[in-house]
Amino acid sequence: MRTIARAKAGFYPTPEPVTHAIAKLIHNPAHHPGRLCDPCCGVGQPARTLAQSLGLLSFGIELDKERFQASKLILNHTLRSDAFATAIQKHSMSMVFLNPPYDDVGKRQRSEPAWLRLLTPALQPGGILVFIIPEPRVTKEIRRYLATHYRQVTFYRFPHPEYLAFRQVVLFGVKAASPSHDRRRLDALVAEEIEYRSLEGSLTPLYAIPPQVIAGPIEFRSHWVSPEDQFAEASKYGIWQDPRIHDALHFPVTGPCTPLMPLRKGHLARMIAAGMLNNQTIATGSSRWIIKGFTDKTTKQLPPEQEEYDIQRGRETRTVTRVIEMFVPQIQAWDITEGLTYGQHVIVNCVDHRGDVAPETP
Ligand SMILES: C[S@@+](CC[C@H](N)C(=O)[O-])C[C@H]1O[C@@H](n2cnc3c(N)ncnc32)[C@H](O)[C@@H]1O
Repeated sequence: MRTIARAKAGFYPTPEPVTHAIAKLIHNPAHHPGRLCDPCCGVGQPARTLAQSLGLLSFGIELDKERFQASKLILNHTLRSDAFATAIQKHSMSMVFLNPPYDDVGKRQRSEPAWLRLLTPALQPGGILVFIIPEPRVTKEIRRYLATHYRQVTFYRFPHPEYLAFRQVVLFGVKAASPSHDRRRLDALVAEEIEYRSLEGSLTPLYAIPPQVIAGPIEFRSHWVSPEDQFAEASKYGIWQDPRIHDALHFPVTGPCTPLMPLRKGHLARMIAAGMLNNQTIATGSSRWIIKGFTDKTTKQLPPEQEEYDIQRGRETRTVTRVIEMFVPQIQAWDITEGLTYGQHVIVNCVDHRGDVAPETP
């Protein structure tokens, strides 16, 4: 699927009860200023709810045009973009809320690890990751990545009945100051059975918004160009608006033109083979044919030749093998003369029985 089509198909908004449960697990007791980023924000609802409850500025990215427009109305900073073509300043986010589309990125590779790798650098050390994925997607790769870059990782199942739809879970983590490369620890963590907690019932905050590390404006910009905008831009300002281009490339055809010199058969055959007269009707007397040309590049082995060479100890005969490249024209014609021959199909291979391209006939 192409990126925009994938985006259209991949809209599974976070259910409101889940957003409220997530909000209960995170707090901002010191009222630190900060930023929350939802890199695939849909219509922006969960990002707005969480940012408001934590006193953070909200940043959203959304590929789908309508959803982007809706999110723009309720989030502080928004980009219509492919998140993978967006620059987000390193360590600029206090919290990342990530509920990526449920799809793959070709060759049966799931997209969730790619989203994690994309957003982790944007999160500041001590920043909070909230990651929503279907439970079967909590793979060893995901767990190893989380264990490497995050601490205090916890796993929660969606409450019923929301869990029944896509068996989603919410993973929380605090971005580590530096990644862990302790292989034994990572292997042990990945091998542990996951203990899923419940998002139902009373929840108390486990995670706190850290002091902000980058104050003031941050880099948050897209280098993605929407195909619709590109088309509109090209039609409005492109070279086709330039009269000089029109004059140079426009050949008004007012009727059949007569060549200055009569064409030889060979010229005609080449024009046909080059496709310049494709789908034209040629008429001789009462018969009419539609023609189509095609040229194929091929190679031909020439007979080997013996050549004499001077070498230190006298002379030596060497066999030289020769291969030539040829352009082989083929012309096809369909008889469209009314009558018995109608529909007759002729293929003219311009190669003789020895495999030589037929010589030009004067
Ligand atoms: C599962 S929905 C989540 C929406 C919202 N974050 C929420 O939790 O309600 C995923 C959203 O990602 C958007 N999307 C898909 N691919 C994207 C991309 N490469 N960049 C930005 N947004 C994308 C889709 O259009 C869709 O709205």
